[in-house]
Amino acid sequence: MKNLYKIPTHVAVIMDGNGRWARRRGLPRVYGHRAGAERVEEILQTAKEVGVKWLSVFAFSTENWQRPKEEVDTIMSLLVEYINKKVPYLLENNIRLRFMGRIDQLPENIKQTVLEGEEATKGCKGMNFVVALNYSGKAEIIDAVNRILAEGKGSITEEDFRKYFYIPEMPDPDLLIRTSGEERISNFMLWQMAYTEFYFTETLWPDFDREEFFKALYEYQSRERRFGKVLEV
Ligand code: FPP
Repeated sequence: MKNLYKIPTHVAVIMDGNGRWARRRGLPRVYGHRAGAERVEEILQTAKEVGVKWLSVFAFSTENWQRPKEEVDTIMSLLVEYINKKVPYLLENNIRLRFMGRIDQLPENIKQTVLEGEEATKGCKGMNFVVALNYSGKAEIIDAVNRILAEGKGSITEEDFRKYFYIPEMPDPDLLIRTSGEERISNFMLWQMAYTEFYFTETLWPDFDREEFFKALYEYQSRERRFGKVLEV
């Protein structure tokens, strides 16, 4: 990495294109998810090396339950396998694993694995790895609003609202990467992405390697972020 300035604090990733990656090889879609899961560690490792403090990935949306049962089951079992296998790696690298989404609604065995993974790594302070699971941006906002209503609050500020998110202390993403040529937000962190820089690439997620990640970082470094203000001269 030549350019170590302007490293984003939080990189969010929509890991898209697993199904197409498999289809192009004449394989069932689930092979694509397996290859996609294998890619995650390389990106996590690279993000840590360059100083990214939060990496969040969209693993499963509240809408993904509508996929064929076999595919849903495979993604879920991949996640359980992945969490169980990666906890020693996360501990060794001082990476805290966290989940965001409607975790309560997950099948019991998945919920258990999720909670164990979080518990095991809760003392890690080097970096945060956030897996969005049974997540959608609209659901997060609605869940927050319902908690606020339950507390009987009459009005609320933007900063207070944030306290009701799944991970209140998580900073907003600086950079969103979406692979596979789709250029949509797809109900990812709707509130948090108000000023996020978007990076889209044709590369399919299972092919998104360290070099591809660097390309996204270089592109981010060339962007001028204004947050709605005028440019200073
Ligand atoms: C999008 O590809 C990918 C998903 C919906 C699932 C992503 C899940 C994993 C990579 C599993 C493991 C996750 C972790 C955190 C280890 P797609 O199926 O929409 O692809 P397509 O658009 O080509 O059909």
